[in-house]
Amino acid sequence: MESWPFAVRPLTASLGAELSGLRLDADMDEALFRAVYRAFLRFQVLLFPPQDLAPERQVALARRFGEVQVHVMNQYHADGYPELYRLSNLDENGRPSGRHPDKGTLAWHTDGSWQRVTGQATIIYGEVMPEQGGETHFCDMYGAYERLDEAWKRRIAGLRAVHNLDFSRKRRHGEDPLTEAQRRARPPVDHPVVRTHPDTGRKCLYLGDHAETIVGMPYEEGRLLIEELNALAVHADLTYEHRWRARELLIWDNRCVMHRATPYDAATQARVIRRATVLGEVPA
Ligand SMILES: [Fe+2]
Repeated sequence: MESWPFAVRPLTASLGAELSGLRLDADMDEALFRAVYRAFLRFQVLLFPPQDLAPERQVALARRFGEVQVHVMNQYHADGYPELYRLSNLDENGRPSGRHPDKGTLAWHTDGSWQRVTGQATIIYGEVMPEQGGETHFCDMYGAYERLDEAWKRRIAGLRAVHNLDFSRKRRHGEDPLTEAQRRARPPVDHPVVRTHPDTGRKCLYLGDHAETIVGMPYEEGRLLIEELNALAVHADLTYEHRWRARELLIWDNRCVMHRATPYDAATQARVIRRATVLGEVPA
């Protein structure tokens, strides 16, 4: 049994744990943060029970994990903090607008896979949560790799996938497309289909909705392979489905999980989240 300086309640048999007895609005000493990071590596998804968390405290916590990303789509910056990205369906009068702020989040993906240096932790604070829908689901990409048969593992060994934010946005909705300058700042990049987690040394699948095609393969063949693997990656018993309460905080490891949001009625229900994404490394 591992021991922890806080209460740990696993959320499923495979991934996710709730950590309680921690105050996120206070500075953690190095030993405590190392234990949180160890839990992050062990459980892949961490949940913290409802508590107040000011934007600057969320940024400070994110900085403990590493360099915090300033998102290319600057229309989302929250509260004057370029490190925070607010997704809200409220209009200027604070009422549900009927418009979903980012339909791209509804498909399984991993944050920042469209960059050379990809996302490490994503840290979301739920300000307002709908009564129905608007959940966040996670699937374990270590398990996704381990459950592939040997023929699949041989077939994908050494392959690289092209990840492209412009592709995934256009394909899913075509709303709020990247500007020409944003597109130029974020050209497509390629990453290994099977990556090795830099901290745990374990192999995992690394694809998701930003993956467009496979390097060195005809475009349509690569598309089909990615769609097939994205579907094979999700197993009911390796998935955690989070139903939010307001003021919870979730932290997950983009290197070894995919996530998606579920739909909600954006015309009648309010949903507002604040997100920070910590940059990781170039996948290997
Ligand atoms: Fe995401």
